[in-house]
Amino acid sequence: MTSGNEIIPAPRAVEGPARDAVLLDDRTTLWAAPGTESTERWLRATLGAALGLPLRTGPEQACDGVRLLVDDTMEPETYRLDVGVHQGVEIRGGDPAGVFWGAQTLRQLLGPEAFRRAAVRPGTRHGIPHQIIEDGPRFCWRGLLLDVARHFMPKEGVLRQLDLMAAHKLNVLHFHLTDDQGWRIEIERHPRLTEVGSWRSRTKFGHRASPLWDDRPHGGFYTRDDIREIVAYAADRHITVVPEIDVPGHSQAAIAAYPELGNTDVLDTRALSVWDTWGINPNVLAPTDNTLRFYEGVFEEVLELFPSEFIHVGGDECPKDQWRASPTAQARIKELGLAGEDGLQAWFIGHFDTWLTARGRRLIGWDEILEGGLAEGAAVSSWRGYAGGTAAARAGHDVVMCPEQQVYLDHRQDGGADEPVPIGYVRGLEDVYRFEPVPTGLTPDEARHVLGAQANVWTEAMEDAARVDYQVFPRLAAFAEVAWSRLPAPERRDFADFERRMEAHYERLDALGVAYRPPGGPKPWQKRPGVLGRPIEGPPPYR
Ligand code: ACM
Repeated sequence: MTSGNEIIPAPRAVEGPARDAVLLDDRTTLWAAPGTESTERWLRATLGAALGLPLRTGPEQACDGVRLLVDDTMEPETYRLDVGVHQGVEIRGGDPAGVFWGAQTLRQLLGPEAFRRAAVRPGTRHGIPHQIIEDGPRFCWRGLLLDVARHFMPKEGVLRQLDLMAAHKLNVLHFHLTDDQGWRIEIERHPRLTEVGSWRSRTKFGHRASPLWDDRPHGGFYTRDDIREIVAYAADRHITVVPEIDVPGHSQAAIAAYPELGNTDVLDTRALSVWDTWGINPNVLAPTDNTLRFYEGVFEEVLELFPSEFIHVGGDECPKDQWRASPTAQARIKELGLAGEDGLQAWFIGHFDTWLTARGRRLIGWDEILEGGLAEGAAVSSWRGYAGGTAAARAGHDVVMCPEQQVYLDHRQDGGADEPVPIGYVRGLEDVYRFEPVPTGLTPDEARHVLGAQANVWTEAMEDAARVDYQVFPRLAAFAEVAWSRLPAPERRDFADFERRMEAHYERLDALGVAYRPPGGPKPWQKRPGVLGRPIEGPPPYR
């Protein structure tokens, strides 16, 4: 039997466990107060299915039942899980999300079998020791970026990732839907974005400098109904999906579909196809009225599908060479009195900031949007270290911290030759556990602008779900604890205790069928070289 001392992410306070236990079986009833319907559905569909418990609706005071209720004297997303009250289980949340996070803790208390999809021992009684757990998150933005552009992840895989996020109390999916190598969301008014932009004819194999391609097509996209399903599935798990349409760089797939979006006065953009290699791409959007109108149309459809307050517009890695060479871009800089090409990028992003704000949404972009002046009201994803986040918070802008050297989960987990994904810096489980989201040197008022943290999963080197699992787990468990729990300063964190709790967590991940990286290194089949092949000569970083 599991106690609150084995939960990941670690809760704020655990009282107990005592020797007595609550026993759940096929007579156990469920009583759900208004506002707790999402957790009621989840408990029956997930926990109930795993343990073979029907969890029939029962009276509020059933002695051995499970009670769910919202208590609005408590803070948002917090919960109190009381095992043993009236001999039953009560989850009291500050809001519906708090009740749901409490149910995630209850699942962990029930042991690894609770993480399966069907009962392996039907008819068994499941005991939980009497205890009280009080808990709540440190940050309101506990994110995972999933790059479905570099390698498409079919819808089922995304829904599974949402379940895995929920199990770790993460609540924002940053959905990277467009890039040079693929456009993944159906846009009705611009059908070629997916007809042309969602497929590439081949993919670079081996390191970027290698002469090899895999010579097979890769692609796919989500229909509008797929997106609606993903957003609803996430919402039912108290996860917000923040879509990213990356502009004005990372746009070759869009230009391949609609060549007039590119800098046609610099090159013949009709010759471009969806990009089949990796790196920073020089083919960026032309800063014309036509481009603005085109993307307003894209964002109109995006707003219809995604109710999130924040809409991500990218803004990263936009080389300015084509704008320097383009008479059209130069004329625009002159006409608007802009500070060169950086000013042109700021104008471009600023246009969509005004456009989104007028529609009741907020713009968020990568920290490059700080260059040339940050659009008013915009928030920043700080990826190039801490400097962008620090500058943005000092200027009064909200920030999500996802520094590349700490929480890019595409980076390798070990320096050994067996590591299947050879890119990036070595960032092991302990490195992620010691990640501190709040930059040093901020005043308390400035630090309040740090909404939270995000782990980013860029998929150049991850061509399938097993590869994603390997890179993401177990490090996402460490990340979740950083984002949820109130850990001490990095050097004082008890990594040995985290490793101890991970022993129980590996059993949960096994039951879920997650192909994580085992503590001792990859299993033989996990060593297979991937799209990016084996390490080239020399020490990391390799890219
Ligand atoms: C990024 O990694 N280019 C945001």
